[in-house]
Amino acid sequence: GPDAGVPAPPQPDPNAAAAAPAEPEKSLDELLAELDALVGLKTVKAEIHRQTAVLRVESLREKAGLKVATITRHLVFVGNPGTGKTTVARLVGGIYRALGLLSKGQLVEVDRSELVAGYLGQTALKTAEVCKSALGGVLFIDEAYSLSGDQYGEEAINTLVKEMEDNRHDLVVIVAGYPLPMARFISENPGLASRFRTTIFFDDYTDDELIGIFTGMVAKADYDLGPGALDAFRTLLGQQVRDQTFGNGRFARNVMEAAIGHQAWRLREVSEPTVAELRTLTADDVLGDAPAETVDFGPDAPAAGDPPDPREADQP
Ligand SMILES: Nc1ncnc2c1ncn2[C@@H]1O[C@H](COP(=O)(O)OP(=O)(O)OP(=O)(O)O)[C@@H](O)[C@H]1O
Ligand SMILES: [Mg+2]
Repeated sequence: GPDAGVPAPPQPDPNAAAAAPAEPEKSLDELLAELDALVGLKTVKAEIHRQTAVLRVESLREKAGLKVATITRHLVFVGNPGTGKTTVARLVGGIYRALGLLSKGQLVEVDRSELVAGYLGQTALKTAEVCKSALGGVLFIDEAYSLSGDQYGEEAINTLVKEMEDNRHDLVVIVAGYPLPMARFISENPGLASRFRTTIFFDDYTDDELIGIFTGMVAKADYDLGPGALDAFRTLLGQQVRDQTFGNGRFARNVMEAAIGHQAWRLREVSEPTVAELRTLTADDVLGDAPAETVDFGPDAPAAGDPPDPREADQP
């Protein structure tokens, strides 16, 4: 079979493993309710509901022994950073599993660096291994068009197309990125064009939606916003340039994480903070020291205005 030449066991991919949290299996209704509970994303929700209905009837028809027009399950997600693509992709994995279209429904999120290897020939193996880790679930390829334009990327695309074909009953691929390069990428690769027929558009969030996302995140993390804290968030939002680099939902998350750091720093000398103190993020916590910079960093970078790292004191 196609696996014969693959050395076993493959090196575990730490990124792939981290992308597949072990969650109890949720029902279709629970997952659709989670989707509907997301702030905004009106067209995304409508499109996922439509796709769910089509795939559900397709699978029921198949069970009844009726003819089925094979609907492509693979999806293209286009939109700016932080507009909820990963969040929705994870729900889609669960929804497809609940429909019986995928055996596990996990999400494996990768970018070019996790598909392409240092030498030609190795890329095919690396991509095949990633596909194997996504088997039974969703392979989510961020900025998939970064695979365009060189032999390594081409090898990854060819392997991907082959794996999609070989595993068409238990592997779903979602490619994500900015609208224009994505449209070009799909149309330039005939192997992909026939497999990715459904494109879902993620719009930027409005101010009100971002406020809803922020307050929802804060509540979910067991914090309360003190007097003026929401206005402080509005102020930060007003200072943001809303171009393609704006972080959308990620902006809300970065502001919250920075505020949590500032609160901890503020409470550092309170020996026994009350529960209320532990819960409250003040306006100053939200504003921080250099709030305008908090969104210019990636999700893993330290937020601006964080307290000094105590470890730095030990270094010469
Ligand atoms: N509609 C929403 N409702 C609630 N929270 C949201 C919503 N959209 C995004 N978020 C939150 O915003 C953050 C970014 O979302 P997500 O990672 O899904 O975006 P993304 O489109 O995958 O971003 P990127 O392109 O940067 O990978 C997450 O913390 C997520 O929980
Ligand atoms: Mg993402």
